[in-house]
Amino acid sequence: MTGQTNGAAQVGNALDLPDGPQPAFRTDLGALYQGDCLEVMRNIPSGSVDLVFADPPFNLGKIYGKHFTDAVAEVEYTNWSEVWIKEGLRLLAPGGAFFLYNIPKWNMRNGAYMQSLGMNFRHWITIDIKLSLPIQGKLYPSHYSLLYFTNGKPKTFTRPRIPIQVCRHCGKDIKDYGGHRNKLHPDGINLTDVWNDIHPVRHQGTKNRQANELSEKLLERVLGIASEPGDVVLDPFGGSGTTYAVAERMHRQWLGVELGDIEPITNRLTGIGNQVELPGFGDSGKGRRK
Ligand SMILES: C[S@@+](CC[C@H](N)C(=O)[O-])C[C@H]1O[C@@H](n2cnc3c(N)ncnc32)[C@H](O)[C@@H]1O
Repeated sequence: MTGQTNGAAQVGNALDLPDGPQPAFRTDLGALYQGDCLEVMRNIPSGSVDLVFADPPFNLGKIYGKHFTDAVAEVEYTNWSEVWIKEGLRLLAPGGAFFLYNIPKWNMRNGAYMQSLGMNFRHWITIDIKLSLPIQGKLYPSHYSLLYFTNGKPKTFTRPRIPIQVCRHCGKDIKDYGGHRNKLHPDGINLTDVWNDIHPVRHQGTKNRQANELSEKLLERVLGIASEPGDVVLDPFGGSGTTYAVAERMHRQWLGVELGDIEPITNRLTGIGNQVELPGFGDSGKGRRK
């Protein structure tokens, strides 16, 4: 453990659940549970988490293994989402942040529900995904939604700057700064709520990615905006463990849960078979990922 933290709770409090499930895997900074996130969350003390990041299944009929079905009635999915969202809010320290990544269809409802719980709406962040599969009779969906709420007034907010974007073919600025180009901050421009520099993940060598794996850049940005070293980060839907890997690197404590196979996560955190994530491959990204 890292000793004194800026967070509301020592992660030890949250990790040691005397009457609850025990972690399947530990590091100095974090604990990973295998099982249903709700069961684990219900055993975590209230107010002991500084940041929740959740990337749940989208109920799009994806095969995740035999543990659950990703194609249930809309009302069932919405009810389930409300239960774990409410539980996540209970765990948040005052001023803590809650990020929820989903498709607009569900985040519209999730956001309304979070607001009804009295949470403080900060942003609907648009994650541009460039290309997407056509859907007959509809516009092509081309973004994911990242909801950003806080439990009251945010206790941590660091606005990042991003490099001035240039065309990868000609090297010229993509935007016109109206003659003020030389007055821009040398560290880059202020980040907006439209993020078009988050690309699907591919790995060097295989050029493959784990199904559903989010870009580490996305998690670095989220953790950089709304947490500090030593804070406790909870991600109830582990997947390949992107949040936990980034939390380790950024010296955040973390709590993780995954219902299915946790080997991809433990391998990643112990460096087994680790591959380097390629930088964004931009416009060649293919379609929706879930
Ligand atoms: C969209 S993926 C998360 C991907 C992750 N953000 C990453 O970058 O690798 C959702 C994950 O949630 C897991 N899951 C689904 N229901 C769950 C539950 N009730 N409790 C814990 N994990 C669950 C699925 O097995 C899947 O791995």
